[in-house]
Amino acid sequence: MLDRNLQHSYSLKALNTFNMPCRAHYFVASQSVDVFATEEFRALIHKHGVKVLGGGSNLVLLGDLDQVVIQLNNSSIQKVTETANSATFRVGAGLAWHDWVCFTVNQGLSGYENLALIPGTVGAAPIQNIGAYGVELSDGLVQVEALHLKTGQTRVFSKDDCQLEYRNSVFKLEEYRDQWLVLNVVLACRKRFQPQVDYPDVQTWFAQKDRAVSLGSVFEAVIDIRRKKLPDPNVLPNVGSFFKNPLVSVDFFHELQALQPAVKGFKVSSSKVKLAAGRLIELCGWKGQAVGGFQVHQDHALVLVNPNNGTAKELIELVQSIQHSVWQTLGVRLLPEPDVWGGDF
Ligand code: EPU
Repeated sequence: MLDRNLQHSYSLKALNTFNMPCRAHYFVASQSVDVFATEEFRALIHKHGVKVLGGGSNLVLLGDLDQVVIQLNNSSIQKVTETANSATFRVGAGLAWHDWVCFTVNQGLSGYENLALIPGTVGAAPIQNIGAYGVELSDGLVQVEALHLKTGQTRVFSKDDCQLEYRNSVFKLEEYRDQWLVLNVVLACRKRFQPQVDYPDVQTWFAQKDRAVSLGSVFEAVIDIRRKKLPDPNVLPNVGSFFKNPLVSVDFFHELQALQPAVKGFKVSSSKVKLAAGRLIELCGWKGQAVGGFQVHQDHALVLVNPNNGTAKELIELVQSIQHSVWQTLGVRLLPEPDVWGGDF
């Protein structure tokens, strides 16, 4: 069974939205989980190690990979439960996230409209707890069904088991990383629309358009805002936000603002502020700057783009230069947000 799916020295260039020209020594893609549950497959990954690829939209490839890269392309949606107020669905890990959002909006179901147009797959969504415009996956997640690749055992991770935080989950811990293949994600939807329109960009959109707030208009607003602000990975290769928004203490934030009043931050608790990393990078003069084939996007400094087939060496130079400059100028450490394979920064 494995022989039919196994590819050697497989180019991942078309499978990562940053367009990095790396190869996987072994590559296995399948619509069914069966191949990943065979003894043969377990023997192969025991020898070479394994990496799980989703939509490749939150991934930076810095070199060729010796491991077995796998991709599960199951994309079914099945209703699990339904009550007067809600419905839950089991969604295949391989479904494109935006297709899931479209499905919910078409059914008149609420909870995911703010997460429209996020690239990547449903299976990757819990790994980094995707979020945008005031909503996070953690708001609707019920459970994650996953296969333990080394033993072939399946396990249901409850929402609590997933330990979802800002761009983080249990699946990113050292002892879980590259151990679990997400098979399905169970997601809850509300039948009654509960708008989440507090995010400044969303408020501005509604004020300017003079539109009534509805499930459809919030979905439209988010798509419109994203299209205006963020480059389309199909047109201009990128991986969305390149750095996490750093969490700092309220005291440090006040010190920083005294030094540089244009710094922006959003209070996330009584003691913590989330800094807008894009603003920090812009303040350090990086907007629009290029190193080799890469560029800091001219409309949004948190996004790096690869218009001219940049190399890993050029990307490392750009990333380290930005980190160094933000640290030296503002005393803030920026950490990459996407996964990094085949090297490090
Ligand atoms: N800003 C600047 N200059 C810039 C970029 C941004 O001043 O060059 C300012 C904006 O004006 C705004 C603030 O920074 O006041 C925040 O910008 P934005 O609303 O675009 O959001 P973000 O913090 O840069 C985060 C997520 C995005 C998500 C948006 C909307 C992270 C790392 N990124 O970006 O997620 O779409 O909020 O919720 O948390 C992604 O993860 O790949 C991603 C795109």
